Amino acid sequence: MKPEREWVETAKKNAALEAAKHVRDGFVIGLGSGSTAAYAIEEIGRKIKKEKLRVLGVPTSYQAFQLAVENDIPLTTLEEHPELDLAIDGADQIDEKLNLIKGIGGALAREKIVASASKCFIIVADEKKKVKTLGENSQPLPIEILPFAKTLVEKRIEKIGGKPCLRTGTGKVGPVITDNGNIILDVDFGLIQDPVKLEVDVKSITGVVETGLFVRMADIIYLGKPSGVARLPTAK
Ligand code: 5RP
Repeated sequence: MKPEREWVETAKKNAALEAAKHVRDGFVIGLGSGSTAAYAIEEIGRKIKKEKLRVLGVPTSYQAFQLAVENDIPLTTLEEHPELDLAIDGADQIDEKLNLIKGIGGALAREKIVASASKCFIIVADEKKKVKTLGENSQPLPIEILPFAKTLVEKRIEKIGGKPCLRTGTGKVGPVITDNGNIILDVDFGLIQDPVKLEVDVKSITGVVETGLFVRMADIIYLGKPSGVARLPTAK
């Protein structure tokens, strides 16, 4: 097998190319965030040009917005199109029931809104993202919260068994501020055996805006492998 650094980027791109095959003329599409979703955005831009498609995009982050502009994808908003035909996005972990952890790129709140507005939600990733149980390999769960409620939320997260860590910037001192003006706690919950319960417990804490747990939301997952792309069956 090729060394990891040689196959992973190709695997991510191949998964994104498979997902972009679902794009049809007239579609309104949610544009995901992160390095794998970026390949899908580039491919959608290429298809619009080559196949003269009338497609509109709804970006999930400032990164996706910029990429869409660079790739000449006409944009719209959820205000104008509250129902989307398709959304394509990446993931940080995918479990055996196809539940996801997302948000290492910090765009989890808009990504989840766009995914829930979409008739078909497609995940693109390389196969290293697949695990038996969410939380493996010390993967934290990103949680977007209101800055005003930080200490209160941290205490309540500790009460339900999480160890929160405020996400700080690399190009700026202090916390990472999301596209929504909020902050992110990366929370170690250990192995997440019951994602449904954890989602309910965390969402019921006042001050929590959104969690990076995407429970039974994915319709199709394309996993890039060292050779080829696997389409995972869905939990639905
Ligand atoms: C951003 C996300 C990304 O989709 C996720 O972090 C995967 O990114 P990448 O494809 O770069 O590994 O959830 O909030």
